[in-house]
Amino acid sequence: MTTLTLHSIKGGSGKSLIAVLSAYELSRRGKKVLLIDGDYNAPCLDSFFPPKGDENPFTSFLSGGSDLRQVIYKTGFTNLFVSYAPSPDLRQEVLRADVRTNGMYLKRILEGLEVAHDKLGFNTIIFDNSSGISLPAINQLSCSNKSIIVLRPVRYGIESTYFQLETIYRKLRYASISSPRNDIIVWNQVPQKVNDAAGSKLAEYLEYWSAQFNKAGIKLGTSIPYMDEVAVAMMGLGELDVPELARILHDHFSPLIDWIG
Ligand SMILES: Nc1ncnc2c1ncn2[C@@H]1O[C@H](COP(=O)(O)OP(=O)(O)OP(=O)(O)O)[C@@H](O)[C@H]1O
Ligand SMILES: [Mg+2]
Repeated sequence: MTTLTLHSIKGGSGKSLIAVLSAYELSRRGKKVLLIDGDYNAPCLDSFFPPKGDENPFTSFLSGGSDLRQVIYKTGFTNLFVSYAPSPDLRQEVLRADVRTNGMYLKRILEGLEVAHDKLGFNTIIFDNSSGISLPAINQLSCSNKSIIVLRPVRYGIESTYFQLETIYRKLRYASISSPRNDIIVWNQVPQKVNDAAGSKLAEYLEYWSAQFNKAGIKLGTSIPYMDEVAVAMMGLGELDVPELARILHDHFSPLIDWIG
């Protein structure tokens, strides 16, 4: 089973979009996928997969109030299931939880992953993290055997991520020596409409940082351009159109979906 976390230090890099489209594309390849909204600051799955009523959030499983089945919901797409983040008042409870409570949540996530795989037949679990290194974000990362760091070509976003790799990944490697980590970076929102001089500067810049991350054991997954069509499709007046977004980004996503497997 693959457990994948999308994360970044800086916000707005494209984690949620990539999480949703990866889940959708994998479900189309026949994998049974559970996509979990693990962002307690700015959850988004309800915009992509509108809930029908007052859905029981994933945190209700974390706190022991529900079993896993009770927090998993079907979407309109075969093989694709979601678990939602809680309402704003309950999010605060998770965000303010101390280290001990987070330790208990971590245990619950690990139990949940086992149930999802062994009893419910899921092949892939995807966590959409909040930006930064909060305790819930670290919990979700440490339960995953794969992760994607989503980066925009913005100096402080890249540097703050790179210089915190020590803190994030070294700890995680110690935490699970038995299951080696498999982490990649994805460049997203890479500018396209640039002149030749700016284009070669950009290429050189991305190449330099890709090499730096590579030396730290984190390979380059893929590079996704900034696309006006995506920005427009993400406005959506009603529910966001996942198949349309997948169609627009299809060619850029293929290598990523192959890697997630
Ligand atoms: N390749 C792209 N081309 C154009 N726009 C994009 C692209 N990728 C993401 N975006 C836009 O960037 C914005 C942020 O994307 P998204 O919400 O997925 O980021 P995030 O990392 O999950 O943000 P947060 O840190 O708030 O959770 C969205 O409005 C989306 O339209
Ligand atoms: Mg997000």
